[in-house]
Amino acid sequence: MKALLLLFFTVVAIESRRRRFPHSSLYASTSNSEMTYTWKEYKFETRLDNFDFTNLNTFNIRYLVNMDSYSTGGPIFFYTGNEGQIEEFANATGLMWDLAGTFKAAVVLAEHRYYGDSQPYGDYDKSYASADTLAYLSSEQALADYAALLTWLKNGEKDPKKPVSFSADTKVIAFGGSYGGMLSAWFRMKYPHVVDGAYASSAPVLYFNNAPGVEWGGFDMITTETFAKSGCDNDVIKKSWEAVKNLTQTEEGQKFLNDLFNVDQKSLVNSPDDADALNDYIREGIEYMAMTDYSYPSDFLKPMPASPVKYACDKYLKAGSGLTEDKAIVTAMAGITSVYFNYNNFNPNYTVCFKDGCDDAGGLVDDRSERHTVLQECTEIVMTMCAEGGNNDFFWNECAIDPITMMKQGCPVWFQSQKWKEGMLGVNAISTEYGYSWNGVTNVILTNGELDPWRAGGVQKGDNARRLFATSITNSAHHFDLRQPNTCDPSNVAWIRYQAVQAMWCFIDSSKCTNDLDILDNKPSIMPTDISNCKDIVGGYPWGQNSTPAISTFAALFVFIAYALNM
Ligand SMILES: *[C@@H]1O[C@H](CO)[C@@H](O)[C@H](O)[C@H]1NC(C)=O
Ligand SMILES: *[C@@H]1O[C@H](CO)[C@@H](O)[C@H](O)[C@H]1NC(C)=O
Ligand SMILES: *[C@@H]1O[C@H](CO)[C@@H](O)[C@H](O)[C@H]1NC(C)=O
Repeated sequence: MKALLLLFFTVVAIESRRRRFPHSSLYASTSNSEMTYTWKEYKFETRLDNFDFTNLNTFNIRYLVNMDSYSTGGPIFFYTGNEGQIEEFANATGLMWDLAGTFKAAVVLAEHRYYGDSQPYGDYDKSYASADTLAYLSSEQALADYAALLTWLKNGEKDPKKPVSFSADTKVIAFGGSYGGMLSAWFRMKYPHVVDGAYASSAPVLYFNNAPGVEWGGFDMITTETFAKSGCDNDVIKKSWEAVKNLTQTEEGQKFLNDLFNVDQKSLVNSPDDADALNDYIREGIEYMAMTDYSYPSDFLKPMPASPVKYACDKYLKAGSGLTEDKAIVTAMAGITSVYFNYNNFNPNYTVCFKDGCDDAGGLVDDRSERHTVLQECTEIVMTMCAEGGNNDFFWNECAIDPITMMKQGCPVWFQSQKWKEGMLGVNAISTEYGYSWNGVTNVILTNGELDPWRAGGVQKGDNARRLFATSITNSAHHFDLRQPNTCDPSNVAWIRYQAVQAMWCFIDSSKCTNDLDILDNKPSIMPTDISNCKDIVGGYPWGQNSTPAISTFAALFVFIAYALNM
């Protein structure tokens, strides 16, 4: 019994250490969204195993196509689908749709195998049945699918199953955000004859074992910075974990916590042992808020205010708050997390649930795709991250057990029925398959959001001579730059997008490469002042930008002074 209990707590502890990519349906569209993206759905028959010539099994992956802007000679904009229903990513990648007209591009989005309706064994549960059925879930297989799909689309042959037959010389630009950004960048790396360039946003391609310059604690260091920049009292956040622990010591404190957080009946705090799980819940809200710290209100399934971190800090925990008392500290933390989990009491029935048996309130819309993501993390995508506490971040030190040891403990428990074995953990899979050096790669845009914790695992330095453009975008969060342009974007985001367009012309058409970049340049960033009426900007390219920003001399002077003062 004791062993079992221990196992249970270990697993809860490990589970809380997994950092998830936020899913777009949590924050997909803006309140005044004018964009609806339309497509036709198609199926592509792919090999179950792209690398075993004796295995002739096939299945269908889905892909979405929009030909409205396409004219012959135009490129294909190809989204390398990531861990979820492909429509989710279609909605969160407005930039690709918006630029299709400028480039006369066909828009094609492919769904990642084992996600959404692209299930090799019929449905999620059947694909999840055993290690054997999960064996073909990998980034390598997914990229091989995408290469096969594009090669088939471009073989010049008419086929009733095809939306259109593209000529062999059709140019392709891959787009992707988050894990999709990793895929689009790796796609260009591995298949340069299939894809002419890639726009990868917030792609933590280096957050793996022994990648040079990447710290395990980088993710939470940036989370902490984002809160500090937004005016939060980080000292109090640092103390809050202890304050929660203190309150769980007494029945009175437990009741206080259950009332304050409106804790679900399934999850009531009734022992000091529950403190860690509640702290994990609070931390999850904090990390997700940093990832989705967008400059305008988003409103889909879950509404969020503009710049949620600043909103939460202003309202609940301004720097210098002077809070010292446990209840006051925890009350502030409950306020902060409510901005992420249940802004404005959006769901009056919302209860806080953080124990085993609760749905994950933060990242997941879809538990089934989450299981598959975990499998990827226990095989190929083995990310090495943990909070360090101390001077690094305002969380607690969990790096005492290193991330790989942690996975070796967690994976056999999560994948017990699949009989997961330690040898399945591809500790060096990514460093072997793709490597950490981008020295041989050309024509990739790698953007990272300055506010986004995932920036820690992104490529920080490009090589402009090879058109490998890397930059960190001020005031930008998780793959913000790929979203539909908006009147409430920070001023520099339009400029980054404008430069990305110039780079993409140079990737695909030397005759239109009139403005080859020296560098992907970040400009001083001005945040929107009025966020009451934020709207999508549809078809707005070049967004009031020119090769130098099209602003009046006065405005330029103002920007210059603002920038100088900031320095
Ligand atoms: C995508 O957005 C459309 C509205 O534009 C919405 O109807 C649809 O449910 C969204 N799909 C997902 C998966 O988020
Ligand atoms: C928690 O309890 C300890 C011991 O009573 C006390 O020193 C501390 O101030 C309390 N609060 C915090 C936030 O640590
Ligand atoms: C909240 O619960 C009540 C009673 O069960 C139900 O009628 C109502 O629709 C729920 N509201 C929301 C927003 O889910």
